[in-house]
This record gives sequence, structure tokens and C-alpha cells, in this order.
Amino acid sequence: MSGFPHQLEQRSNAEALCDALAERLEDQLRARRCGDRPLGLATGRTMEPLYAALVRRLQGWRTDELAALKACWSSFNLDEYRGLAASDPRSYRRFMAEQLGGPLQIPDGALRLPDGFAADGDGAAAAYGAALARSGGIGVQLLGLGSNGHVGFNEPPCEADLPCRVVSLSSATRQQNAGMFGGDPAAVPSSAITLGLQEILAAEEIHLVVTGAAKAAILRRLLAARQPDPQLPASWLLRHSRVWLWADAPALAPPLA
Ligand code: GLP
Repeated sequence: MSGFPHQLEQRSNAEALCDALAERLEDQLRARRCGDRPLGLATGRTMEPLYAALVRRLQGWRTDELAALKACWSSFNLDEYRGLAASDPRSYRRFMAEQLGGPLQIPDGALRLPDGFAADGDGAAAAYGAALARSGGIGVQLLGLGSNGHVGFNEPPCEADLPCRVVSLSSATRQQNAGMFGGDPAAVPSSAITLGLQEILAAEEIHLVVTGAAKAAILRRLLAARQPDPQLPASWLLRHSRVWLWADAPALAPPLA
């Protein structure tokens, strides 16, 4: 295996990168037809400028074109925390409503996320995986990169055949995401529902987005990988032939001497 990535899209900063990726997504959305495979969406700080750029572009569409896109909208998010109500400002459902669903007025139910508030987490995960399978699997998948190499909430160690399921969050991830929880890692939910590498690797096309100096160390590890390594979940993307890595200069910077 020859190493990662198959295609590298490099830009000087996150803003330029998000605008270029938003342009590509816009082209793909223009070509969309009802019944096409759903979009695979991600949350996290990396995605905020991307959704802002995409919303700006889509708001420039003709009213009838945008209405047609929304009428056929179908997306599945990667993951959701367990134990947060849908209305909780820290839930990924709220994140998506604020970043994309609200600004574009996407119809309720078309922008899907796992039900993290269900009492039966395993049942909710199985139902979400089954709903995605009935929709034909992901078409275009957006991914961020966790500082420990996770994608979605697939924490290391992680195998490629794992499906949508309930997962425990590592202390590294709870630390990474503490910002939304008053800076307290202990306040971050200890579990989540995530699509697995099984569903992610079945996507037709994957865009991994990595920006900022805080991701430089984990991106270096990923770029050095020659074989998938369960300790680095993102390295399973080596198995997929249509992966684009979108990285900005701070994320690609060499370590300080
Ligand atoms: C989070 C999410 C991922 C996200 C990643 C990076 O924990 N579960 O889906 O892509 O970690 O987050 P951020 O973009 O905030 O750095």
C-alpha cells in the first residue's frame, strides 16, 4: 500500500480551504437528483467555516433551484453524544441546525443524526445504521480528524468492519471537545453513537478536512502511515480509492526544530 492520501488539496489557510471545498460540494449538489445516496456530514470546529461557505454559496442560488435541492435533501451525520437532549446547545443536532439546517431551512427529518437521547442506545444505533442502509449508503462523506486520529467517534483501537454503534469516548477526545462543555472534560458525555468504519469506508467519495496547527502532529502520523493501523482509525482510509485530504498550511507545517 502506497500511503496517504490519494489526492491532496492544500491551501494556505482554513478560510481558503473551506471555500474551495464548498465550491466542489456546490457543484456536486447542483448535479444531485432525488434518490441519490445521502450526504455524510460531520460536526466539529473544522466544519464551521465549511458550512458557512457552503451556506453563502447556496443562498446565492435561484429560489427554484434551492427549493428543489431542499425538497430532495438527504444527509446522515456521523455521530451524536449520548445523553444530551436534541435541544441541548451542545448536541450535534443543535450544531447542525445552527450551521446548516436553520440557515438553509432544510425540512425537518431530512438532516438525520443518531438519537443520542434514546434510553436504548444500542437500539438507536442499530436503527440509524439500518436507516442509512435503506437509503443506499453514503455518497459524499465529509470527515474531520480527531487529535487522537479518530474519525466520527471511532476511537483507537478500531477495526475496519465495525458498524454504527455505541462507543465510549476516550479521555483524549473528552479533553479535545471540552470547549463546548465549559472547558471541563468530565462534563463531556462519556459515550456517543457513531457510524463505524464499515459505513464510512462504504461511501462513494470521502473528503477528510484537517486545519490548524493543533492537528499538525496527528496529520504527520497519518501521512507517515503505509498500512492501516487500528491505533490510528483514520488510517483505514488507505483502503479507500476515492479519498481527498484537504489540509491547510498550519496543519501541514513541519515540527519546530
Ligand atoms: C469530534 C467529532 C468528529 C470531528 C472531530 C474533530 O470529536 N466526533 O466528527 O470531526 O472530533 O473535531 P474538531 O473539528 O472540533 O477538531
